[in-house]
Amino acid sequence: MKTLLVYYSLEGNDKVIADAISEETDCEILKLTPTKEVPKSGFLKFVWGGKQVVFNEKPELQPYKKDFSSYDLIIIGSPVWAGTYAPVFNTFFSDTVIKNKKIALFACYAGSEGKIFDTFRSKLEGNEIIGQIGFKNPAKNETAKSKEDAKKWIRGIVE
Ligand SMILES: Cc1cc2nc3c(=O)[nH]c(=O)nc-3n(C[C@H](O)[C@H](O)[C@H](O)COP(=O)(O)O)c2cc1C
Repeated sequence: MKTLLVYYSLEGNDKVIADAISEETDCEILKLTPTKEVPKSGFLKFVWGGKQVVFNEKPELQPYKKDFSSYDLIIIGSPVWAGTYAPVFNTFFSDTVIKNKKIALFACYAGSEGKIFDTFRSKLEGNEIIGQIGFKNPAKNETAKSKEDAKKWIRGIVE
């Protein structure tokens, strides 16, 4: 199964999961990177990042070139921001057509998943969502177990 993993991580939690998945399964990786990143520390990140969500902003991304139609499975991972996916995915979804693919979703959060999986699912209509999983700040919280859970999850999907 030709697989692409698309993810964004501001503070390293989604990266922990993306790395675990890529250790377990053969996949290409596309890390979405804004040209102007939200501040990583302090309260400002919530103000800046929250504003991007509220105003449905599409932060400019560093260029990438992928033929999305060539993959069988696309794994997508995002932190939960104000209850949904990070605004880099607004940009991604407006730039990209993904149809008739198998999709697996993961998300990292501090408190709860909010409606991230529902919003991903509605943006990804016309695809088959074959799995979804959430992790509570896995870079700080049960990191080894979270990585094991991520590996087990993706094994169940690709096998
Ligand atoms: C702008 C912003 C908004 C956030 N909003 C939420 C939220 O609504 N619910 C929640 O549980 N966590 C929220 N968080 C926390 C992150 O989802 C959580 O720390 C996640 O693990 C970060 O992933 P990352 O390290 O890959 O960036 C928010 C973080 C930021 C920076």
